[in-house]
Amino acid sequence: MSVVDDVKTRLDIVDVVSGYVSLQKAGRNFKAPCPFHDEKTPSFIVNPERQSWHCFGACSTGGDVFSFIQRADNLDFGEALRSLAQKAGVEITRGGEDGQSRDRNELLYQANGLAAKFYRDVLSSDRGEKAKAYLDQRGVDASAAAKFELGLSPDGWEGLKSHLLGLGVDEDVAVEAGLLRRNDSPEAGQTRDFFHGRLMFPIHDRQGRVAGFGGRSLDGSDPKYINTAATPVFDKRNMLYGMHLANKSIKDSNTGVVVEGYMDVIAAHQHGYTNVVASMGTALTEDQVGQLRPLAKSFVLALDPDVAGQEATLRSLESSWRVIGRRSAGRSTPAGVLYQRDPIVLKIASLPDGRDPDELIRHDAKAWEDIIENALPLMDFLIPTVARRFDVNTGQGKTQLKDAVFPLIAATENFFDQEKYMEQLAVAMHVTVEQLKASLPRGNRGGAYGTRARPEGSTGPEVDSSALMKDPGSAIDEYVLSLILNRPELKKQVSAYPAELFRNTEDREVFTRWLACSTIDDLRESLDDALGERLSYLTEMQHAPSDRAQSEKALFQCMRRLESRHWRERQQSLLVSVEADQPPSRDIEEDIVEANSRIKETFLH
Ligand code: UTP
Ligand code: MN
Repeated sequence: MSVVDDVKTRLDIVDVVSGYVSLQKAGRNFKAPCPFHDEKTPSFIVNPERQSWHCFGACSTGGDVFSFIQRADNLDFGEALRSLAQKAGVEITRGGEDGQSRDRNELLYQANGLAAKFYRDVLSSDRGEKAKAYLDQRGVDASAAAKFELGLSPDGWEGLKSHLLGLGVDEDVAVEAGLLRRNDSPEAGQTRDFFHGRLMFPIHDRQGRVAGFGGRSLDGSDPKYINTAATPVFDKRNMLYGMHLANKSIKDSNTGVVVEGYMDVIAAHQHGYTNVVASMGTALTEDQVGQLRPLAKSFVLALDPDVAGQEATLRSLESSWRVIGRRSAGRSTPAGVLYQRDPIVLKIASLPDGRDPDELIRHDAKAWEDIIENALPLMDFLIPTVARRFDVNTGQGKTQLKDAVFPLIAATENFFDQEKYMEQLAVAMHVTVEQLKASLPRGNRGGAYGTRARPEGSTGPEVDSSALMKDPGSAIDEYVLSLILNRPELKKQVSAYPAELFRNTEDREVFTRWLACSTIDDLRESLDDALGERLSYLTEMQHAPSDRAQSEKALFQCMRRLESRHWRERQQSLLVSVEADQPPSRDIEEDIVEANSRIKETFLH
């Protein structure tokens, strides 16, 4: 993750803007009088979902958190980045909080920290004898238990509650953190402990703050684990258990190992394998992969061997591959371009039947090392595994297998790897490589297979913006920028478009400055250092040779997409703000009319 992205993911635009104007809830959005010009009726809207702001009044502009700070504090991009990075605690290691406990989230972390401490104390008290015996029996030694801050939630319903309230923690905060729950009837509104009688595993964020908990039953009752439900600071899907302890070791060893469970991570760390984190039982999400990816070049997924585990593995691979494919290699534009960048190595360790990493490590650490050492590259694992799902003796089964695997082969960075996997796929399909290639759509037969970003059926060299249309991220933005960076002669075509069409401030910067520069070197000079990485990324996207007319057409299509996206989003924010508002002010009414007609225009064009 780049610094820019890291800052963006850690900050909430609502919090940042609230430091400047007082925001009022308006439906899903927030509104306020615009901080950038004088007005009585609020026409300044903040959209938390999109993390964007817009002034529908005199400014008639908007953007993300960076452009907000740039305007509000009169900063250039680099200054805005540094100011926000500091606010977000980026590059400031653990414990970098500056006492800004005004922040609601800070209160949640605080309550969680106090709860973790309480659970720990219960575990080391007389009440913890049984749980300690359990840990002992599972082979968890005292130092591992301390390192992971394991604890015990007491039986009964009010142990944590009275402790926290006694320390002055606000009851609502404790409820919001998921530590207490409110009863339904008959004692509606009363609160009680959420966890009781469970072995407690605090789940820390990357900076080491306690964001939530997993609680294991000690008496075999179901469910085995109960986890904190989603809160403003906790969502199991974007946390990795043990990340705060593994972070450095993953970087140092340039390898990360992902397992499924709490107990697996603890066993690994206890035995000195400190680059291990857990996905907590679910398929790896894109967000989780996004956190891991920047830390190392190589990752091993060591997941449970049973059939369910295999299914989960596949799902997780399919989703993580998408991120890894998109962020690193095989990035393509719809023009069938394949380019290489910082390829990541993803391997799969198959564990012996019926053994999870925890058991394996405790039973035979050497065997664990061998398994990690001999993990198979993703595709070598995937082809035979996927093949088992289909009956390749039928034509239908062959096609299903091809459809499942080919896009992944096409996303492989290296031409020679692609050829190797085509052979493996052919073998698994019980056909010859020639037959396999003949069955591919035209345009894919000669090797260098484009990528999976392409939707089925569209394989020609023609630009197909439909793939981009579906991408919720910034694929079109990137495509446009890389195209004009690659072909400066196309700059004229786009010079009249406003930079606001690009979603991210960093892309706006690149766009605006490029229009004013004549060489990439000049451009690099004029951009803030933090944008160097972005620029390299964009310039490294290679475009297949196509003639000028084709490129012009592609560019034109994409600019129209950007325009219609811009107006659609603007219209949506407006409608949402109006829904929740009193009768719309005249400014807003006018703006809706304008947005509508602009949308019509771009669609009819
Ligand atoms: P496991 O069942 O493999 O748990 O689930 P485990 O960590 O190995 O625990 P032990 O060894 O049985 O004590 C893997 C992970 O899936 C999540 C937890 O994060 C668990 O560590 N999980 C599992 C749940 O969230 N809820 C459940 O009911 C079960
Ligand atoms: Mn286990």
